[in-house]
Amino acid sequence: MEALKSKITDCANLEELEVVRVEIFGKKGILAAEFAKLKDIPPAEKKDFAKSMNEKKVELQNIFDAKKLELEAIALQKELESQKIDISLYGYENNKGALHPVKDTMDKIIDYFATLNFSVESGPLVENDFNNFEALNLPKNHPAREMQDTFFFADGNLLRTHTSPVQIRTMQNQKPPIRMIAPGAVFRRDYDLTHTPMFHQVEGLLVGKKGEVSFANLKAILEDFLHYMFGDVKVRFRPSFFPFTEPSTEVDISCIFCKGDGCRVCSHTGWLEVLGSGVVDPNVFKAVGYENVSGYAFGLGVERFAMLLHGIGDLRSMFEGDIRLLEQFK
Ligand code: PHE
Repeated sequence: MEALKSKITDCANLEELEVVRVEIFGKKGILAAEFAKLKDIPPAEKKDFAKSMNEKKVELQNIFDAKKLELEAIALQKELESQKIDISLYGYENNKGALHPVKDTMDKIIDYFATLNFSVESGPLVENDFNNFEALNLPKNHPAREMQDTFFFADGNLLRTHTSPVQIRTMQNQKPPIRMIAPGAVFRRDYDLTHTPMFHQVEGLLVGKKGEVSFANLKAILEDFLHYMFGDVKVRFRPSFFPFTEPSTEVDISCIFCKGDGCRVCSHTGWLEVLGSGVVDPNVFKAVGYENVSGYAFGLGVERFAMLLHGIGDLRSMFEGDIRLLEQFK
């Protein structure tokens, strides 16, 4: 009996213990062999023999269970030690990307108008003459076409020079009232510090019943929008000309760099031009077959907004993909 006990207690690990378990408690093990002797024992002694065997078995089982717990605890401890994490080690750098400032600014602009229930419309980059010019009150040979250096295709189609054709497409496909913005890329033959052949605009158009939409509404929403984008700035409406709006205004904000004192960015005027807008010209409504309506429209350059918001000096740097510029927007 003592030999069996120490067989168990001498086990150094769970593997050894398992071997011993089979040897002692297994079907063909030592205990089973002892119990088998029961049949050869004289009937008078059977009861005592069985009782003492059972007691021995229970005792051995208790010793075995205790040993098993002990060895399991040791095994767990070993495993934990082998998996210990050194939290003082440096981790891997999490190299996350960032939205391009143009995209980021565009999202911010869209958010503002989406909150006011403007739908977000889109149109193709390759446009026809009617949508880009004619329907916007820019007939052939009109001098104002010169304002936009157009890329033409041989078939007479063109790369849209502004997002205003999306106004036309939307009005042709939907009945008034209209409340839409159209963000997207536009193209002009121009390349210098403040011009690139491709840039982005966000167009806005609101159409209601005749007499329902006024210049005052346009002024109110643009002032609120510009405060949302640029914070505490002064907003100024300057008379201007666009063929598709009458009256037309360009909208300026007080220079966000010099607070209106005059600096290089604002050409010492104290003002920065940020928007074109106006009350929709009746000829535009005529071109799409709208009657008894009034509306306002506006258009803005997204890169210009992004440059002002982030103090970026050269428009071209927006499209060079220089990682040193982009990393600053993480
Ligand atoms: N389409 C004009 C431009 O590209 C901007 C504009 C849009 C002006 C709508 C007035 C109304 O310059």
